[in-house]
Amino acid sequence: MANEQPDVTPWEAEAFVDYNRLIEIFGAKPLTEREARLLEEVVGEQHFMIRRRVFYSHRDLDAFLEAYRRGERTALYTGRGPSGHTHLGHILPWVFTKWLQEKLGIDLFFQITDDEKFWHEEGYRLEDTNRMAYENILDIIAVGFKPEKTHIVIDSEDIRYLYPIAARVAKKITFSVQRAAFGFTDSTNVGMIFYPTLQIAMAFLPSEIYGEPTWVLIPAGIDQDPYWRIARDIAPSLGYPKPAQIHGKLLPGLGPEGKMSSSKPETALYTTDPPEVAKKKIMRAFTGGQPTAELQRKLGGNPDRCPIFKLYELMFEPDDKKLEERYWACKTGKLLCGECKRELAERVAKFLEEHQKRREKAKDMVDKFLIRNKFDPPPVESRVKKR
Ligand code: TRP
Repeated sequence: MANEQPDVTPWEAEAFVDYNRLIEIFGAKPLTEREARLLEEVVGEQHFMIRRRVFYSHRDLDAFLEAYRRGERTALYTGRGPSGHTHLGHILPWVFTKWLQEKLGIDLFFQITDDEKFWHEEGYRLEDTNRMAYENILDIIAVGFKPEKTHIVIDSEDIRYLYPIAARVAKKITFSVQRAAFGFTDSTNVGMIFYPTLQIAMAFLPSEIYGEPTWVLIPAGIDQDPYWRIARDIAPSLGYPKPAQIHGKLLPGLGPEGKMSSSKPETALYTTDPPEVAKKKIMRAFTGGQPTAELQRKLGGNPDRCPIFKLYELMFEPDDKKLEERYWACKTGKLLCGECKRELAERVAKFLEEHQKRREKAKDMVDKFLIRNKFDPPPVESRVKKR
């Protein structure tokens, strides 16, 4: 058992979030050396986000990879609830998903849930979340997904791709199961109550598009797990393989705690922030440093509680050796926060400049990504015969 544990690096010892606790709560499995090695065998290289367990937990990742290796049909699926502008916390899992798409050479089905966010968020009109869907799509394209292999479904516009599947899914889910999984109450609007059916149906769309049972891997936050638990329960009875998951960590915000979140704009780095603005936000960020430079030199900083260090670790320093050097330079008081922030600010600004150029170009490419321009909606009669 011991050799199955990930190498515990010092900065992993004390994270902001107790990810082991999350794995327990959701009943998922930790991603061990075994899955990491299997993935490396299958795609021929390892991503630092796997090595560092930025993606740290899974369900059936091994079964998915074995099916891929046997030459069976596979696809990727992820999604975005367009409740606001894209920030770097959203980009993080997409960067990894793009890598998977490239290395596995398979299609990605991308759901944009403008209906969900309309139902969920007070004060949004459907046209607001729909407009945001198109804004977010520019960021998805800018990350570099392949147009010929990336198929976007916008719920409010592409429902015919999902509805026959959703109708079958809905019949398998009782209200009591739904309520227990999502904590719905008597005052939840019925849009929210129906919505899970659509997110689950999307996991089965690849099977209907290809006309054969398709193994689907879903990179997502662990908070989406309740959908997949239900999806996995009902999949066999509808003739679909159970969808597999791989769960990613959340990027922290630039404040003392909490994930990067649109509800705290001063601590979030948006893809549309002018690089100069992003730099200022970083220079003003909370750190694990001491109150004065003198104390920092004497006592050292605390990278384990520092959002700046986490940004390096999760996204902006792929080189393990350099990351480790930074960690110890901070801990021993050699590296002061100002310098550490300045270097990060430069990297983030460069990333944003390039992303924003690609985002501009993306405006002419949207049509190439929309599923409606590429596949006919699947027929009402399921193409996947129950086995
Ligand atoms: N419910 C997700 C959100 O609020 C959006 C979503 C739909 C999704 N399908 C998904 C996320 C698949 C991850 C994987 O953001």
